[in-house]
Amino acid sequence: MRAQVLVAVASRHGGTWGIGEVVSATLAEAGHGVDLLAPEDVADVGPYGAVVLGSAVYLAHWLPAARDLAERHADALRERPVWLLSSGLATQPAAAANSPHELAALRERLGARGHRSFRGRLDRRVLTFAERAVIAGGRAREGDHRDLAAVAEWARGIAATLADEAVHRPADGGTGTRADGRALLALGRPGRI
Ligand SMILES: Cc1cc2nc3c(=O)[nH]c(=O)nc-3n(C[C@H](O)[C@H](O)[C@H](O)COP(=O)(O)O)c2cc1C
Repeated sequence: MRAQVLVAVASRHGGTWGIGEVVSATLAEAGHGVDLLAPEDVADVGPYGAVVLGSAVYLAHWLPAARDLAERHADALRERPVWLLSSGLATQPAAAANSPHELAALRERLGARGHRSFRGRLDRRVLTFAERAVIAGGRAREGDHRDLAAVAEWARGIAATLADEAVHRPADGGTGTRADGRALLALGRPGRI
């Protein structure tokens, strides 16, 4: 069954946006409707049956735009299936370096189905002076470390989950809820189970 999915991704230098593009293309290939937006451009999550929210990691935090979206729409996000993604430099030895501090609280608050960290991309030429200074002493390895095949595989799992779930849009067009309180996915064809 087809869901309308919002993919909202915060990116400073385009690497994470590229990951969002792969997620979007994969969901679309699987037959879902997809909008790929920067978090600051999302006015309403109401039209979406599911949301993938992600951010690049800077200084162990998600970018403010992604955190703001989660904050502004926390209640609506809790009512629909949500997956989170982060993109950072997996070349750092500690897995925790890729795991933004706020992630655990965010997962809990949004009732997210999952969170996945993907390796990112570092091109010193596009960094600001301040960013270069920050990473100067670190062990960050230049280059594109993104595993886009792994991103697509993750997104195929989401697509399959959405397709499998018992979903419908109530005849009155409102958002249905399951017995466990979570929202049902809205389908393009009203009234169909
Ligand atoms: C100044 C700076 C700080 C960074 N801090 C972190 C960090 O704390 N943890 C991490 O995993 N990656 C960190 N990175 C790596 C970025 O997350 C990585 O380059 C990412 O792919 C950037 O995504 P974007 O191109 O979408 O902005 C940092 C990169 C820069 C330039």
